[in-house]
Amino acid sequence: MPKEKSSRNPSHRAPRVAIAIMAAGKGTRLKSKHPKVLHEVGGKPLLAHVISAATKVVPAKDVFAVIGHEADRVRQAVAQTGINFVLQKEQRGTGHALMIAREALAPYDQVIVLYGDAPLISPQTIEKLRDSHASKHSAMTILTAQLEDPTGYGRIIRKSKNSPAVRAIVEEKSATPAQRKTREINSGSYAFDAKVLFAHIDELSNDNAHGEFYLTDMAAILGKAKQRVTAVVASDPHEVLGSNTRAELVDLDHHLRMAKCRQLMADGVTIFYPETCVIDCDVEIGADTVVEPFVQILGKTRIGSDCRVRSYSVISNSTIGDGVLIRPGCVLDGANVMKDAVLGPYSHLRPGSEIGEGAHVGNFVETKKIRLGKGSKANHLTYLGDAEIGEGVNIGAGTITCNYDGERKHTTVIEDGVFIGSDSTLVAPVKVGKGAYVGAASCITDDVAPDSLAIGRAHQIVKEGWVKAKRGAGRNRSNPI
Ligand code: UD1
Ligand code: CA
Repeated sequence: MPKEKSSRNPSHRAPRVAIAIMAAGKGTRLKSKHPKVLHEVGGKPLLAHVISAATKVVPAKDVFAVIGHEADRVRQAVAQTGINFVLQKEQRGTGHALMIAREALAPYDQVIVLYGDAPLISPQTIEKLRDSHASKHSAMTILTAQLEDPTGYGRIIRKSKNSPAVRAIVEEKSATPAQRKTREINSGSYAFDAKVLFAHIDELSNDNAHGEFYLTDMAAILGKAKQRVTAVVASDPHEVLGSNTRAELVDLDHHLRMAKCRQLMADGVTIFYPETCVIDCDVEIGADTVVEPFVQILGKTRIGSDCRVRSYSVISNSTIGDGVLIRPGCVLDGANVMKDAVLGPYSHLRPGSEIGEGAHVGNFVETKKIRLGKGSKANHLTYLGDAEIGEGVNIGAGTITCNYDGERKHTTVIEDGVFIGSDSTLVAPVKVGKGAYVGAASCITDDVAPDSLAIGRAHQIVKEGWVKAKRGAGRNRSNPI
Protein backbone atom coordinates (compact mmCIF):
# COMPACT_ATOMS: atom_id res chain seq x y z
CA MET A 1 0.00 0.00 0.00
CA PRO A 2 1.55 3.36 -0.95
CA LYS A 3 2.65 5.52 1.92
CA GLU A 4 0.20 8.37 1.53
CA LYS A 5 -2.79 6.05 1.97
CA SER A 6 -1.94 5.20 5.55
CA SER A 7 -2.33 8.80 6.68
CA ARG A 8 -5.93 8.86 5.49
CA ASN A 9 -8.29 9.59 8.36
CA PRO A 10 -6.31 7.55 10.89
CA SER A 11 -8.51 8.07 13.96
CA HIS A 12 -11.87 7.18 12.40
CA ARG A 13 -13.17 10.64 13.14
CA ALA A 14 -15.44 12.24 10.55
CA PRO A 15 -13.24 13.35 7.65
CA ARG A 16 -12.57 17.06 7.38
CA VAL A 17 -14.10 18.02 4.05
CA ALA A 18 -13.33 21.15 2.04
CA ILE A 19 -15.21 22.21 -1.08
CA ALA A 20 -13.31 24.03 -3.82
CA ILE A 21 -15.41 25.83 -6.43
CA MET A 22 -13.73 26.57 -9.76
CA ALA A 23 -14.78 30.06 -10.71
CA ALA A 24 -11.78 31.74 -12.28
CA GLY A 25 -12.60 31.26 -15.95
CA LYS A 26 -13.61 34.00 -18.35
CA GLY A 27 -16.39 32.19 -20.16
CA THR A 28 -15.17 33.12 -23.63
CA ARG A 29 -18.08 31.36 -25.33
CA LEU A 30 -20.64 33.64 -23.65
CA LYS A 31 -19.15 36.63 -25.50
CA SER A 32 -19.78 38.81 -22.48
CA LYS A 33 -17.97 41.57 -20.63
CA HIS A 34 -19.25 40.10 -17.37
CA PRO A 35 -17.54 37.20 -15.63
CA LYS A 36 -19.16 33.88 -16.48
CA VAL A 37 -20.03 32.80 -12.93
CA LEU A 38 -21.97 36.04 -12.36
CA HIS A 39 -24.37 35.34 -15.20
CA GLU A 40 -27.76 34.68 -13.66
CA VAL A 41 -30.09 31.72 -13.86
CA GLY A 42 -33.20 31.41 -11.73
CA GLY A 43 -32.65 35.02 -10.65
CA LYS A 44 -29.21 34.67 -9.09
CA PRO A 45 -25.60 34.25 -10.22
CA LEU A 46 -24.42 30.78 -11.26
CA LEU A 47 -21.83 30.85 -8.51
CA ALA A 48 -24.42 31.73 -5.84
CA HIS A 49 -26.32 28.53 -6.63
CA VAL A 50 -23.21 26.40 -6.25
CA ILE A 51 -22.24 28.14 -2.99
CA SER A 52 -25.74 27.63 -1.66
CA ALA A 53 -25.57 23.87 -2.34
CA ALA A 54 -21.99 23.64 -0.97
CA THR A 55 -22.79 25.42 2.29
CA LYS A 56 -25.62 22.96 2.94
CA VAL A 57 -22.97 20.23 3.10
CA VAL A 58 -20.04 21.95 4.84
CA PRO A 59 -19.78 25.24 6.77
CA ALA A 60 -18.92 28.35 4.73
CA LYS A 61 -15.45 28.48 6.32
CA ASP A 62 -14.63 25.21 4.52
CA VAL A 63 -15.68 26.46 1.09
CA PHE A 64 -13.03 27.99 -1.20
CA ALA A 65 -13.88 29.66 -4.47
CA VAL A 66 -10.99 29.88 -6.94
CA ILE A 67 -11.44 33.24 -8.63
CA GLY A 68 -9.40 35.03 -11.28
CA HIS A 69 -11.14 36.74 -14.16
CA GLU A 70 -12.71 39.94 -12.69
CA ALA A 71 -11.89 38.55 -9.26
CA ASP A 72 -13.00 41.64 -7.34
CA ARG A 73 -16.46 41.68 -8.89
CA VAL A 74 -16.93 37.99 -8.27
CA ARG A 75 -15.75 38.27 -4.69
CA GLN A 76 -18.05 41.21 -4.00
CA ALA A 77 -21.07 39.52 -5.51
CA VAL A 78 -20.91 36.58 -3.10
CA ALA A 79 -18.94 38.04 -0.17
CA GLN A 80 -21.92 37.89 2.18
CA THR A 81 -21.94 34.08 2.03
CA GLY A 82 -18.84 34.03 4.24
CA ILE A 83 -16.85 31.64 2.04
CA ASN A 84 -13.11 31.92 1.32
CA PHE A 85 -11.44 32.97 -1.91
CA VAL A 86 -8.25 31.85 -3.58
CA LEU A 87 -6.86 34.01 -6.36
CA GLN A 88 -5.77 32.32 -9.59
CA LYS A 89 -4.28 35.28 -11.44
CA GLU A 90 -3.69 33.42 -14.69
CA GLN A 91 -6.16 30.75 -15.70
CA ARG A 92 -3.87 27.94 -16.71
CA GLY A 93 -6.42 25.16 -16.32
CA THR A 94 -8.51 23.39 -13.70
CA GLY A 95 -5.49 21.45 -12.42
CA HIS A 96 -3.54 24.69 -12.04
CA ALA A 97 -6.48 26.15 -10.09
CA LEU A 98 -6.06 23.42 -7.46
CA MET A 99 -2.29 23.87 -7.38
CA ILE A 100 -2.92 27.50 -6.45
CA ALA A 101 -5.33 26.41 -3.71
CA ARG A 102 -2.96 23.78 -2.31
CA GLU A 103 -2.07 25.70 0.86
CA ALA A 104 -5.72 26.32 1.74
CA LEU A 105 -6.87 22.78 0.99
CA ALA A 106 -3.97 20.63 2.20
CA PRO A 107 -5.07 20.60 5.88
CA TYR A 108 -8.29 18.76 5.00
CA ASP A 109 -8.85 15.01 4.56
CA GLN A 110 -11.15 15.23 1.57
CA VAL A 111 -11.40 17.91 -1.10
CA ILE A 112 -14.56 18.10 -3.18
CA VAL A 113 -14.26 20.04 -6.42
CA LEU A 114 -17.34 21.74 -7.90
CA TYR A 115 -17.70 23.97 -10.93
CA GLY A 116 -18.93 27.52 -10.53
CA ASP A 117 -20.76 27.28 -13.85
CA ALA A 118 -22.81 24.15 -13.05
CA PRO A 119 -25.57 25.55 -10.86
CA LEU A 120 -28.00 22.63 -10.63
CA ILE A 121 -25.85 20.48 -8.37
CA SER A 122 -27.84 19.50 -5.27
CA PRO A 123 -26.58 19.13 -1.69
CA GLN A 124 -27.75 15.48 -1.81
CA THR A 125 -25.50 14.76 -4.78
CA ILE A 126 -22.52 16.43 -3.11
CA GLU A 127 -23.17 14.24 -0.07
CA LYS A 128 -23.43 11.18 -2.27
CA LEU A 129 -20.05 12.02 -3.79
CA ARG A 130 -18.53 12.58 -0.33
CA ASP A 131 -19.93 9.37 1.11
CA SER A 132 -19.14 7.15 -1.87
CA HIS A 133 -15.58 8.47 -1.79
CA ALA A 134 -15.20 7.72 1.91
CA SER A 135 -16.84 4.29 1.87
CA LYS A 136 -14.84 3.05 -1.13
CA HIS A 137 -11.61 4.51 0.31
CA SER A 138 -10.90 6.07 -3.07
CA ALA A 139 -8.14 8.50 -3.88
CA MET A 140 -10.35 10.17 -6.50
CA THR A 141 -14.09 9.83 -7.06
CA ILE A 142 -15.54 11.31 -10.20
CA LEU A 143 -19.16 12.43 -10.36
CA THR A 144 -20.40 11.25 -13.73
CA ALA A 145 -23.67 11.25 -15.67
CA GLN A 146 -25.19 9.31 -18.52
CA LEU A 147 -26.15 11.83 -21.20
CA GLU A 148 -28.23 11.27 -24.33
CA ASP A 149 -25.87 13.63 -26.11
CA PRO A 150 -22.38 13.67 -24.54
CA THR A 151 -20.96 16.11 -27.12
CA GLY A 152 -18.46 18.54 -25.65
CA TYR A 153 -17.91 16.70 -22.38
CA GLY A 154 -14.95 14.68 -21.17
CA ARG A 155 -15.68 10.91 -21.41
CA ILE A 156 -15.23 8.37 -18.64
CA ILE A 157 -13.11 5.40 -19.63
CA ARG A 158 -13.74 2.57 -17.15
CA LYS A 159 -11.12 -0.15 -16.62
CA SER A 160 -13.56 -2.68 -17.97
CA LYS A 161 -17.23 -2.53 -18.90
CA ASN A 162 -18.93 -2.81 -15.49
CA SER A 163 -15.91 -2.07 -13.39
CA PRO A 164 -16.31 0.57 -10.68
CA ALA A 165 -12.73 1.61 -11.40
CA VAL A 166 -11.94 4.40 -13.87
CA ARG A 167 -8.88 4.29 -16.09
CA ALA A 168 -8.99 7.82 -17.44
CA ILE A 169 -11.03 10.85 -18.43
CA VAL A 170 -10.60 11.71 -22.09
CA GLU A 171 -11.47 15.18 -23.30
CA GLU A 172 -13.64 15.33 -26.42
CA LYS A 173 -10.85 16.90 -28.44
CA SER A 174 -8.46 14.06 -27.64
CA ALA A 175 -10.97 11.20 -27.76
CA THR A 176 -10.89 8.43 -30.37
CA PRO A 177 -14.11 7.82 -32.35
CA ALA A 178 -14.79 4.77 -30.17
CA GLN A 179 -14.26 6.74 -26.96
CA ARG A 180 -16.58 9.48 -28.22
CA LYS A 181 -19.39 6.95 -28.31
CA THR A 182 -19.20 6.64 -24.51
CA ARG A 183 -22.25 8.31 -23.01
CA GLU A 184 -20.87 8.45 -19.49
CA ILE A 185 -19.41 11.90 -19.07
CA ASN A 186 -17.26 13.75 -16.58
CA SER A 187 -19.35 16.27 -14.64
CA GLY A 188 -16.23 18.09 -13.51
CA SER A 189 -17.05 17.42 -9.87
CA TYR A 190 -14.73 15.17 -7.91
CA ALA A 191 -13.82 14.12 -4.43
CA PHE A 192 -10.12 13.72 -3.72
CA ASP A 193 -8.11 12.42 -0.86
CA ALA A 194 -6.24 15.64 -0.10
CA LYS A 195 -2.93 13.99 0.78
CA VAL A 196 -2.86 11.85 -2.35
CA LEU A 197 -4.03 14.71 -4.56
CA PHE A 198 -1.28 17.05 -3.46
CA ALA A 199 1.35 14.32 -3.49
CA HIS A 200 0.69 13.85 -7.22
CA ILE A 201 -0.67 17.14 -8.52
CA ASP A 202 2.73 18.30 -9.75
CA GLU A 203 2.74 15.39 -12.18
CA LEU A 204 0.11 17.20 -14.25
CA SER A 205 1.50 18.55 -17.47
CA ASN A 206 0.29 21.28 -19.78
CA ASP A 207 1.55 19.46 -22.84
CA ASN A 208 -1.80 19.50 -24.67
CA ALA A 209 -3.76 21.44 -27.29
CA HIS A 210 -4.65 24.32 -24.93
CA GLY A 211 -1.43 24.38 -22.94
CA GLU A 212 -3.51 23.95 -19.77
CA PHE A 213 -3.10 21.79 -16.67
CA TYR A 214 -6.19 19.59 -16.85
CA LEU A 215 -7.47 18.29 -13.52
CA THR A 216 -9.05 15.46 -15.50
CA ASP A 217 -5.55 14.01 -16.07
CA MET A 218 -5.40 13.17 -12.35
CA ALA A 219 -7.54 10.10 -13.06
CA ALA A 220 -4.82 8.50 -15.19
CA ILE A 221 -1.97 9.79 -13.00
CA LEU A 222 -3.51 8.34 -9.83
CA GLY A 223 -4.38 5.11 -11.63
CA LYS A 224 -0.76 4.67 -12.63
CA ALA A 225 0.27 5.31 -9.03
CA LYS A 226 -1.97 2.36 -8.05
CA GLN A 227 -4.44 4.65 -6.32
CA ARG A 228 -8.14 3.85 -6.40
CA VAL A 229 -10.09 6.00 -8.89
CA THR A 230 -13.84 5.41 -8.90
CA ALA A 231 -16.96 7.03 -10.26
CA VAL A 232 -20.40 7.73 -8.88
CA VAL A 233 -23.25 8.39 -11.29
CA ALA A 234 -25.51 11.38 -10.61
CA SER A 235 -29.12 10.21 -10.29
CA ASP A 236 -30.40 13.24 -12.20
CA PRO A 237 -28.20 13.95 -15.23
CA HIS A 238 -29.49 17.55 -15.29
CA GLU A 239 -27.54 18.29 -12.15
CA VAL A 240 -24.22 18.21 -13.91
CA LEU A 241 -25.16 20.49 -16.79
CA GLY A 242 -22.75 23.35 -17.29
CA SER A 243 -23.30 26.63 -19.06
CA ASN A 244 -20.74 27.45 -21.68
CA THR A 245 -23.09 29.28 -24.08
CA ARG A 246 -26.05 31.66 -23.85
CA ALA A 247 -28.34 28.93 -25.08
CA GLU A 248 -27.18 26.64 -22.28
CA LEU A 249 -27.73 29.42 -19.73
CA VAL A 250 -31.30 29.84 -20.92
CA ASP A 251 -31.88 26.08 -20.73
CA LEU A 252 -30.62 26.01 -17.17
CA ASP A 253 -32.78 28.99 -16.27
CA HIS A 254 -35.84 27.28 -17.70
CA HIS A 255 -35.04 24.07 -15.90
CA LEU A 256 -34.65 25.86 -12.55
CA ARG A 257 -37.84 27.88 -12.92
CA MET A 258 -39.93 24.90 -13.93
CA ALA A 259 -38.59 23.01 -10.93
CA LYS A 260 -39.45 26.00 -8.76
CA CYS A 261 -43.02 26.11 -10.07
CA ARG A 262 -43.43 22.37 -9.51
CA GLN A 263 -42.18 22.73 -5.94
CA LEU A 264 -44.57 25.63 -5.25
CA MET A 265 -47.49 23.72 -6.74
CA ALA A 266 -46.60 20.69 -4.61
CA ASP A 267 -46.79 23.05 -1.63
CA GLY A 268 -50.32 24.19 -2.52
CA VAL A 269 -49.86 27.18 -4.82
CA THR A 270 -51.81 27.30 -8.10
CA ILE A 271 -49.79 28.64 -11.02
CA PHE A 272 -51.70 28.88 -14.27
CA TYR A 273 -49.60 28.44 -17.40
CA PRO A 274 -46.38 28.15 -15.37
CA GLU A 275 -44.29 28.30 -18.53
CA THR A 276 -45.30 31.97 -18.88
CA CYS A 277 -44.31 32.89 -15.31
CA VAL A 278 -40.86 33.87 -14.08
CA ILE A 279 -40.41 32.92 -10.43
CA ASP A 280 -36.97 33.20 -8.86
CA CYS A 281 -35.50 30.38 -6.80
CA ASP A 282 -35.61 32.15 -3.42
CA VAL A 283 -39.27 33.23 -3.66
CA GLU A 284 -41.69 31.88 -1.04
CA ILE A 285 -45.46 31.63 -1.59
CA GLY A 286 -48.11 30.34 0.82
CA ALA A 287 -50.73 27.71 0.09
CA ASP A 288 -53.94 28.58 -1.77
CA THR A 289 -52.38 31.58 -3.45
CA VAL A 290 -53.16 31.75 -7.14
CA VAL A 291 -50.67 33.10 -9.68
CA GLU A 292 -52.14 33.97 -13.06
CA PRO A 293 -50.28 33.77 -16.39
CA PHE A 294 -47.45 36.16 -17.27
CA VAL A 295 -46.47 37.09 -13.74
CA GLN A 296 -42.91 37.68 -12.53
CA ILE A 297 -42.07 37.14 -8.86
CA LEU A 298 -38.44 37.97 -8.23
CA GLY A 299 -35.64 38.18 -5.70
CA LYS A 300 -36.44 37.58 -2.07
CA THR A 301 -40.19 38.09 -2.42
CA ARG A 302 -42.46 36.41 0.12
CA ILE A 303 -46.17 36.08 -0.58
CA GLY A 304 -48.64 34.80 2.02
CA SER A 305 -51.51 32.38 1.51
CA ASP A 306 -54.89 33.00 -0.11
CA CYS A 307 -53.54 35.78 -2.32
CA ARG A 308 -54.24 36.25 -5.97
CA VAL A 309 -51.63 37.71 -8.28
CA ARG A 310 -53.29 38.65 -11.51
CA SER A 311 -51.61 38.74 -14.91
CA TYR A 312 -48.76 41.04 -15.95
CA SER A 313 -47.65 41.94 -12.45
CA VAL A 314 -43.91 42.13 -11.63
CA ILE A 315 -43.09 41.77 -7.94
CA SER A 316 -39.48 42.11 -6.72
CA ASN A 317 -38.05 41.80 -3.22
CA SER A 318 -41.40 42.45 -1.58
CA THR A 319 -43.34 40.98 1.32
CA ILE A 320 -47.05 40.36 0.81
CA GLY A 321 -49.35 39.26 3.64
CA ASP A 322 -52.21 36.77 3.44
CA GLY A 323 -55.35 37.40 1.39
CA VAL A 324 -53.92 40.21 -0.73
CA LEU A 325 -55.40 40.81 -4.18
CA ILE A 326 -52.98 42.15 -6.76
CA ARG A 327 -54.95 43.13 -9.82
CA PRO A 328 -53.38 43.12 -13.32
CA GLY A 329 -50.35 45.13 -14.26
CA CYS A 330 -48.89 46.04 -10.88
CA VAL A 331 -45.17 46.71 -10.36
CA LEU A 332 -43.86 46.22 -6.82
CA ASP A 333 -40.26 46.68 -5.75
CA GLY A 334 -39.20 46.54 -2.12
CA ALA A 335 -42.78 46.93 -0.89
CA ASN A 336 -44.40 45.53 2.24
CA VAL A 337 -48.10 44.85 1.86
CA MET A 338 -50.17 43.76 4.87
CA LYS A 339 -52.96 41.21 4.77
CA ASP A 340 -56.18 41.75 2.82
CA ALA A 341 -54.89 44.79 0.96
CA VAL A 342 -56.02 45.34 -2.63
CA LEU A 343 -53.65 46.70 -5.27
CA GLY A 344 -54.12 47.77 -8.86
CA PRO A 345 -54.84 47.50 -11.62
CA TYR A 346 -51.64 49.33 -12.59
CA SER A 347 -50.25 50.34 -9.21
CA HIS A 348 -46.54 51.08 -8.87
CA LEU A 349 -45.17 50.46 -5.39
CA ARG A 350 -41.57 51.53 -5.11
CA PRO A 351 -39.06 50.78 -2.34
CA GLY A 352 -40.18 51.52 1.19
CA SER A 353 -43.90 51.39 0.45
CA GLU A 354 -45.72 49.94 3.43
CA ILE A 355 -49.36 49.27 2.70
CA GLY A 356 -51.53 48.61 5.78
CA GLU A 357 -54.02 45.86 6.41
CA GLY A 358 -57.04 46.06 4.11
CA ALA A 359 -55.75 49.26 2.45
CA HIS A 360 -56.44 49.94 -1.23
CA VAL A 361 -53.98 51.30 -3.76
CA GLY A 362 -55.63 51.66 -7.13
CA ASN A 363 -55.29 52.60 -10.77
CA PHE A 364 -52.17 54.53 -11.75
CA VAL A 365 -51.09 55.20 -8.19
CA GLU A 366 -47.37 55.47 -7.48
CA THR A 367 -46.00 55.16 -3.96
CA LYS A 368 -42.47 55.49 -2.59
CA LYS A 369 -41.25 55.36 1.03
CA ILE A 370 -44.69 55.72 2.57
CA ARG A 371 -46.79 54.13 5.23
CA LEU A 372 -50.46 53.84 4.30
CA GLY A 373 -52.45 52.92 7.42
CA LYS A 374 -55.02 50.20 7.94
CA GLY A 375 -58.07 50.51 5.71
CA SER A 376 -56.85 53.69 3.99
CA LYS A 377 -57.54 54.18 0.29
CA ALA A 378 -55.72 55.84 -2.58
CA ASN A 379 -57.64 54.55 -5.52
CA HIS A 380 -56.91 56.71 -8.54
CA LEU A 381 -54.12 58.64 -10.30
CA THR A 382 -52.02 59.61 -7.32
CA TYR A 383 -48.39 60.08 -6.28
CA LEU A 384 -47.58 59.44 -2.63
CA GLY A 385 -43.88 59.81 -1.73
CA ASP A 386 -42.23 60.26 1.69
CA ALA A 387 -45.56 60.22 3.50
CA GLU A 388 -46.91 58.96 6.82
CA ILE A 389 -50.57 58.25 6.27
CA GLY A 390 -52.75 57.08 9.17
CA GLU A 391 -55.71 54.70 9.29
CA GLY A 392 -59.04 55.16 7.56
CA VAL A 393 -57.75 57.94 5.32
CA ASN A 394 -59.29 58.65 1.94
CA ILE A 395 -56.92 60.06 -0.65
CA GLY A 396 -58.93 61.54 -3.53
CA ALA A 397 -58.17 60.99 -7.20
CA GLY A 398 -55.22 62.95 -8.53
CA THR A 399 -53.64 63.77 -5.16
CA ILE A 400 -49.93 64.59 -5.24
CA THR A 401 -47.51 64.79 -2.33
CA CYS A 402 -44.95 67.38 -3.43
CA ASN A 403 -42.05 65.80 -1.56
CA TYR A 404 -39.10 67.32 -3.42
CA ASP A 405 -38.10 70.97 -3.39
CA GLY A 406 -35.42 70.51 -6.03
CA GLU A 407 -32.77 69.79 -3.43
CA ARG A 408 -34.18 67.74 -0.62
CA LYS A 409 -37.05 65.37 0.16
CA HIS A 410 -39.63 66.29 2.81
CA THR A 411 -42.33 64.35 4.61
CA THR A 412 -46.10 64.71 4.41
CA VAL A 413 -48.03 63.57 7.47
CA ILE A 414 -51.71 62.71 7.08
CA GLU A 415 -53.29 61.58 10.35
CA ASP A 416 -56.08 59.05 10.94
CA GLY A 417 -59.49 59.61 9.34
CA VAL A 418 -58.43 62.47 7.07
CA PHE A 419 -60.26 63.10 3.78
CA ILE A 420 -58.14 64.58 0.99
CA GLY A 421 -60.31 65.92 -1.84
CA SER A 422 -59.44 65.10 -5.42
CA ASP A 423 -56.69 66.93 -7.27
CA SER A 424 -55.02 68.23 -4.14
CA THR A 425 -51.33 68.97 -3.84
CA LEU A 426 -49.70 68.67 -0.44
CA VAL A 427 -46.46 70.66 -0.37
CA ALA A 428 -44.13 68.97 2.12
CA PRO A 429 -43.15 69.37 4.86
CA VAL A 430 -46.79 69.61 5.86
CA LYS A 431 -49.18 67.90 8.25
CA VAL A 432 -52.92 67.34 8.01
CA GLY A 433 -54.32 66.69 11.52
CA LYS A 434 -56.60 63.87 12.58
CA GLY A 435 -60.07 63.90 11.00
CA ALA A 436 -59.44 67.02 8.90
CA TYR A 437 -60.90 67.64 5.43
CA VAL A 438 -59.03 69.10 2.49
CA GLY A 439 -61.27 70.57 -0.23
CA ALA A 440 -60.81 69.33 -3.77
CA ALA A 441 -58.10 70.98 -5.88
CA SER A 442 -56.42 72.52 -2.87
CA CYS A 443 -52.76 73.36 -2.72
CA ILE A 444 -51.90 72.76 0.93
CA THR A 445 -48.72 74.50 2.07
CA ASP A 446 -49.50 75.03 5.77
CA ASP A 447 -50.36 72.49 8.46
CA VAL A 448 -54.07 71.75 8.89
CA ALA A 449 -55.38 71.44 12.48
CA PRO A 450 -57.36 68.30 13.42
CA ASP A 451 -61.04 68.24 12.49
CA SER A 452 -60.83 71.41 10.38
CA LEU A 453 -61.59 72.04 6.72
CA ALA A 454 -58.77 73.40 4.59
CA ILE A 455 -59.41 74.89 1.19
CA GLY A 456 -56.41 76.22 -0.66
CA ARG A 457 -57.64 77.31 -4.07
CA ALA A 458 -58.85 80.48 -5.79
CA HIS A 459 -62.51 81.36 -5.28
CA GLN A 460 -64.66 80.47 -8.23
CA ILE A 461 -65.79 83.49 -10.24
CA VAL A 462 -68.89 83.35 -12.41
CA LYS A 463 -69.45 86.33 -14.72
CA GLU A 464 -73.05 86.11 -15.81
CA GLY A 465 -73.81 87.09 -19.40
CA TRP A 466 -70.09 87.43 -20.16
CA VAL A 467 -70.22 85.20 -23.24
CA LYS A 468 -73.10 87.06 -24.84
CA ALA A 469 -71.44 90.40 -24.20
CA LYS A 470 -68.22 89.16 -25.75
CA ARG A 471 -70.04 87.94 -28.86
CA GLY A 472 -71.62 91.30 -29.29
CA ALA A 473 -68.21 93.00 -29.11
CA GLY A 474 -66.44 90.80 -31.65
CA ARG A 475 -69.06 90.21 -34.36
CA ASN A 476 -66.58 88.77 -36.84
CA ARG A 477 -65.38 85.97 -34.63
CA SER A 478 -67.21 82.71 -34.23
CA ASN A 479 -65.41 81.78 -31.00
CA PRO A 480 -66.14 84.37 -28.29
CA ILE A 481 -63.04 83.56 -26.22
C1 UD1 B 1 -14.53 20.52 -18.09
C2 UD1 B 1 -13.84 19.15 -18.04
C3 UD1 B 1 -14.64 18.12 -18.82
C4 UD1 B 1 -16.04 18.07 -18.27
C5 UD1 B 1 -16.68 19.46 -18.31
C6 UD1 B 1 -18.00 19.43 -17.56
C7 UD1 B 1 -11.47 19.73 -17.88
C8 UD1 B 1 -10.18 19.75 -18.59
N1 UD1 B 1 -12.50 19.29 -18.58
O1 UD1 B 1 -14.49 21.00 -19.44
O2 UD1 B 1 -14.04 16.83 -18.70
O3 UD1 B 1 -16.81 17.16 -19.02
O4 UD1 B 1 -15.84 20.41 -17.60
O5 UD1 B 1 -18.64 20.67 -17.65
O6 UD1 B 1 -11.54 20.05 -16.70
N2 UD1 B 1 -11.55 27.23 -14.42
C9 UD1 B 1 -10.75 27.84 -13.48
N3 UD1 B 1 -9.44 28.05 -13.75
C10 UD1 B 1 -8.87 27.66 -14.92
C11 UD1 B 1 -9.69 27.03 -15.89
C12 UD1 B 1 -11.02 26.81 -15.61
O7 UD1 B 1 -11.22 28.20 -12.40
O8 UD1 B 1 -7.68 27.89 -15.07
C13 UD1 B 1 -12.97 27.02 -14.11
C14 UD1 B 1 -13.90 27.69 -15.10
O9 UD1 B 1 -14.24 28.99 -14.65
C15 UD1 B 1 -15.10 26.78 -15.09
C16 UD1 B 1 -14.53 25.42 -14.76
O10 UD1 B 1 -13.24 25.65 -14.23
O11 UD1 B 1 -16.04 27.12 -14.07
C17 UD1 B 1 -14.48 24.50 -15.96
O12 UD1 B 1 -13.71 25.05 -16.98
P1 UD1 B 1 -14.15 24.94 -18.48
O13 UD1 B 1 -13.11 25.61 -19.28
O14 UD1 B 1 -15.56 25.39 -18.64
O15 UD1 B 1 -14.04 23.35 -18.74
P2 UD1 B 1 -14.81 22.55 -19.85
O16 UD1 B 1 -14.20 22.77 -21.16
O17 UD1 B 1 -16.27 22.78 -19.72
CA1 CA C 1 -17.65 24.18 -18.55
